[in-house]
Amino acid sequence: MKFLYVINILLRCLVSVHCVNFPWESVHLTDNEVQGHPEIAFGNRPTPLMIFSNGTNTTTCKTYPGDINWPSLSIWNEFNKTLGGALIKSISPVSVCYRGVDYNAAKCAYVRENYANSTFETDDPAAPVAPWVEGNTCPLPPASGNASYTNSSCTSAGYPAYVVNATTVKHIQLAVNFARNTDIRLIIKNTGHDFLGKSVGAGSLSIWSHNLKGFKYLPSFSIGDYQGRAARVGSGMQSYEIQRSLIGLDATIVVPGGTTVGAIGGFFQGGGHSTLTSLYGLGSDQVLAINVVTADGRFITVDPDNNDDLLYAMRGGGPGTWGVVTSVIYKAHELTPISTSPIRFAGAAPGKNNTAFPLEAFWAGIRAYFKFSPQICDRGGIGYNFIKHEGTNNDTLTFTADLRMPFMSVKEVRAFAAPLIKELNKVGLNITNPVPTHDTGIAFTLGSIGDKVGNSRFATRLFPRKNFEDEDKLDSTTRAIHSFVDGGYNFHGINYCPTEEVAGYPDNAVNPAFRKTAMHAEAFDTSPAIGPAAEQIARYQRFRKYFQGFIDVSPGAGCYLNEADVAEPNWQQAFYGDNYKRLLRIKKDRDPWGLFWMPTGVGSEDWEVKAPGGLPTQNGRLCKIFG
Ligand SMILES: Cc1cc2nc3c(=O)[nH]c(=O)nc-3n(C[C@H](O)[C@H](O)[C@H](O)COP(=O)(O)OP(=O)(O)OC[C@H]3O[C@@H](n4cnc5c(N)ncnc54)[C@H](O)[C@@H]3O)c2cc1C
Ligand SMILES: *[C@@H]1O[C@H](CO)[C@@H](O)[C@H](O)[C@H]1NC(C)=O
Ligand SMILES: *[C@@H]1O[C@H](CO)[C@@H](O)[C@H](O)[C@H]1NC(C)=O
Ligand SMILES: *[C@@H]1O[C@H](CO)[C@@H](O)[C@H](O)[C@H]1NC(C)=O
Ligand SMILES: *[C@@H]1O[C@H](CO)[C@@H](O)[C@H](O)[C@H]1NC(C)=O
Ligand SMILES: *[C@@H]1O[C@H](CO)[C@@H](O)[C@H](O)[C@H]1NC(C)=O
Ligand SMILES: *[C@@H]1O[C@H](CO)[C@@H](O)[C@H](O)[C@H]1NC(C)=O
Ligand SMILES: *[C@@H]1O[C@H](CO)[C@@H](O)[C@H](O)[C@H]1NC(C)=O
Ligand SMILES: *[C@@H]1O[C@H](CO)[C@@H](O)[C@H](O)[C@H]1NC(C)=O
Ligand SMILES: *[C@@H]1O[C@H](CO)[C@@H](O)[C@H](O)[C@H]1NC(C)=O
Ligand SMILES: *[C@@H]1O[C@H](CO)[C@@H](O)[C@H](O)[C@H]1NC(C)=O
Repeated sequence: MKFLYVINILLRCLVSVHCVNFPWESVHLTDNEVQGHPEIAFGNRPTPLMIFSNGTNTTTCKTYPGDINWPSLSIWNEFNKTLGGALIKSISPVSVCYRGVDYNAAKCAYVRENYANSTFETDDPAAPVAPWVEGNTCPLPPASGNASYTNSSCTSAGYPAYVVNATTVKHIQLAVNFARNTDIRLIIKNTGHDFLGKSVGAGSLSIWSHNLKGFKYLPSFSIGDYQGRAARVGSGMQSYEIQRSLIGLDATIVVPGGTTVGAIGGFFQGGGHSTLTSLYGLGSDQVLAINVVTADGRFITVDPDNNDDLLYAMRGGGPGTWGVVTSVIYKAHELTPISTSPIRFAGAAPGKNNTAFPLEAFWAGIRAYFKFSPQICDRGGIGYNFIKHEGTNNDTLTFTADLRMPFMSVKEVRAFAAPLIKELNKVGLNITNPVPTHDTGIAFTLGSIGDKVGNSRFATRLFPRKNFEDEDKLDSTTRAIHSFVDGGYNFHGINYCPTEEVAGYPDNAVNPAFRKTAMHAEAFDTSPAIGPAAEQIARYQRFRKYFQGFIDVSPGAGCYLNEADVAEPNWQQAFYGDNYKRLLRIKKDRDPWGLFWMPTGVGSEDWEVKAPGGLPTQNGRLCKIFG
């Protein structure tokens, strides 16, 4: 018995967490190295001490460029040396298009050509994918020339002051300790896709995790109750890179739909939905172990046997709030093929479009689709739908829904869609059952990489399943979406159901609203978030008025914190639900310094960014709120 036990322990070590770390995860900052260098010393919990602060332990605002407390150039240079030269002075990549020291015609031409392709921002140390979140401080000038664009129109003010190009655990530990000890705002940028501004911050020190690449397949891995396929994945890995790593492995991994989005950054920490949400659960539900540098600067492993508070919090409790992830062990699944039924119809007012159906039939068809949608979940699929203003003068409404059904053949998904098509015919939509497409499951998204991303705001809602099952609620839900679209806005819904059962009843901090939903609804403000602040605010207020119907028909529900309005009222309830209290306790214990601050992150209500124009951007000082 005892002998078997020992063998078991040995076997576990062979495949266990530490045994399979990436080589760059073994380069650490040691206690010896920090001796006599207080600015890079480790932090002590629970006695937070800010050594560089001026007499008080915590100042009113984080240290900002130009402050007396801001480290001198020689301190930054010294810090850079400790980092082995990995420190970057960050500036907007668009500055090359402005008259002044940075101007470079060839580089500017390259920027113009690639700016709308998210690969460009992802490969930049600091640029966010949606520039409004940093305050549009260096907008792309019109193609006609740079004559009126002096260097003062490009300030890069919303950007971090410095970026650490992290390629080892030691780089991260140094950045965490330095920012904590100097009381400088710390941020983490992976790909910069975050819609709420969580990966930018004026005058901050940024940890750039983009180059922490690595993928190691673990065909038979066991930890806690889990036994099966898994992979260790570096935190810089993007969706398309994981897909590529899977070629030839006969395995499937839950990754974001956007090809350049990171899977091991915001995605798994905030929830993470995919084509396989109704089958395998969310990104948060895939994570078995996490390697992370915490706010005290220590590198730890979070798994079923260690640091269970963080195992709970980091899987769904919000990105960037708990530490800097270097890699995770992620579940892998058997190769999962998918067949897709593309349902399409259009509607228009009389005389506006002869090929479209009457609007009454159009909206009755959408109601019929919504009523059907829980069945998509029950077969493990998702319904990826859009309602858009299109055609000449935008006077045609189009509805598109892709029913993406795992483990179904083309024939099976066609038979599955038949009852829905029949209902659509019944309400006056004369459409035929479309021919589905098939995907073998090997690297779904290996088409062109680089999502095109806009610069506008949006708001979302996780509609409970009962909104589609109860006839009255179905009516009011359809009406709320109808009114919103009539306001001139576009709608995107994803029908999926990552229930507790599908997820395997994990003890994680995923927003409880996810467990009850049958549609993640995205409401878009189609106009770009640019121009004078007062105009932006007026546009936003109109948009929120039209969006309010979504909340009114789903009281107590919530939204997906990674795809949401940063100014969502009552965000603690909406983004975290009943988990908030437990998360806040863990946050205060693990990060008494308030080092990892994110807008709408757990504990973020103690601080605010003083941004110009009252806009919720990251272009300003981060200060404590008193009272
Ligand atoms: C085009 C596009 C497609 C998308 N598709 C999907 C989708 O299919 N499913 C879905 O669920 N979401 C999707 N999203 C939303 C996406 O999940 C979020 O934007 C998410 O925050 C992106 O994470 P990131 O690490 O790539 O980006 P970043 O903006 O770099 O980081 C986002 C957050 O994660 C934190 N973070 C990043 N790296 C680390 C790390 N190593 N350790 C600790 N914290 C870290 C940052 O501090 C920040 O708070 C999409 C977004 C876009 C723009
Ligand atoms: C500490 O410095 C900040 C500015 O960084 C200043 O606002 C504050 O008043 C100072 N506090 C003391 C006690 O000197
Ligand atoms: C700073 O915090 C430590 C530990 O909480 C405390 O002992 C010390 O008195 C504090 N100092 C000041 C100046 O507030
Ligand atoms: C850090 O050091 C490297 C190599 O010495 C240098 O190339 C880089 O410019 C330095 N960074 C800063 C911000 O000075
Ligand atoms: C842009 O400005 C630079 C000087 O900073 C100048 O050399 C260049 O000709 C200008 N380009 C255009 C198109 O105006
Ligand atoms: C613009 O750049 C020039 C150097 O090319 C510099 O002298 C000037 O101060 C800059 N102006 C502003 C407003 O930054
Ligand atoms: C970041 O570091 C990697 C590895 O050292 C290097 O290849 C890359 O050029 C660096 N990126 C920048 C923008 O400095
Ligand atoms: C009419 O509707 C169809 C969709 O049915 C759309 O493709 C087309 O662009 C619309 N035509 C006009 C003139 O708006
Ligand atoms: C149609 O709406 C889009 C926004 O969704 C807008 O950009 C475009 O200008 C509109 N087109 C017309 C012809 O009104
Ligand atoms: C439905 O459309 C087909 C062509 O797609 C047409 O032949 C048929 O007459 C239409 N039926 C009705 C009731 O409009
Ligand atoms: C985006 O840029 C990448 C890298 O340059 C390129 O491979 C890709 O084809 C581009 N994608 C699109 C949609 O243009």
